[in-house]
Amino acid sequence: MKIIQVTDTHLGRRGEVRFGADLHERLDKCIEHINAHHGDAALCVFTGDLTDDGDPASYADLRAALGALSMPSRLLPGNHDKRANLVAAFPECPVDDNGFVQSVHDGGEAVLLFLDSLAEGRVGGELCDRRLAWLEGQLAIAAGRPLLVFLHHPPVELGLPELDPLGLERPERFLDLLSLHGQVRQVFFGHVHRDVSGSVGGIPFCAQRGLHARFVLDLAVSRPIVEQAPPSYAVILVDRAGERVIVHTCDFLERWPVYSTRTGQRIATGV
Ligand SMILES: [Fe+2]
Repeated sequence: MKIIQVTDTHLGRRGEVRFGADLHERLDKCIEHINAHHGDAALCVFTGDLTDDGDPASYADLRAALGALSMPSRLLPGNHDKRANLVAAFPECPVDDNGFVQSVHDGGEAVLLFLDSLAEGRVGGELCDRRLAWLEGQLAIAAGRPLLVFLHHPPVELGLPELDPLGLERPERFLDLLSLHGQVRQVFFGHVHRDVSGSVGGIPFCAQRGLHARFVLDLAVSRPIVEQAPPSYAVILVDRAGERVIVHTCDFLERWPVYSTRTGQRIATGV
């Protein structure tokens, strides 16, 4: 099974250039690249901050852009989103019994769980009692099955002073449930606009920098500075038994010089 993760698309006003980038244009190129190179993926997961301010026009733009995507998609809200506007623009978007944008996809090799960590009005994320109860129920249904879990906010401090206060609130409740299930293969998130991987309590996690400008790496001081690094998406490969999960980061925008490893000669501009 192949899954694509795209995060932090941050669509704002059409034509707006933010930190030197047009994010509408960037999303179009991302989708074009996914279609061209990974059209065999089963699903494309957008892990939140779909829009920059939750404006209905931005969700309409997102809907139009996704019309070009050659595979099904799953949308999760981030702190920049507005849940009601998201669901209004995508009425087919699955929600749980309480209206949270949470759902399940049984991919055969593994069960994919999509969580809604949006706390409207706050930058940090939350999984409230109702959302955790839904998760607990889904974990029971998926007992013994390999799991991949997707949400917007990091459920762990990453050693980043600028971003650590803005992660998932009370993450231990979430992590305890995952630990009890015992079969979580990977947790995927966005929010931090950086590539990060590691594990917490034995549970592997990773984040993609996504389409937005990247926060600078500063492990000592909180600095509200971003750099216009190449945007990326993730290609996730899961084997038949769900025992092997591979996450590739794919830069899709820049064209790098290409050389033959046999001759050392430059053979083309980009691939
Ligand atoms: Fe973001």
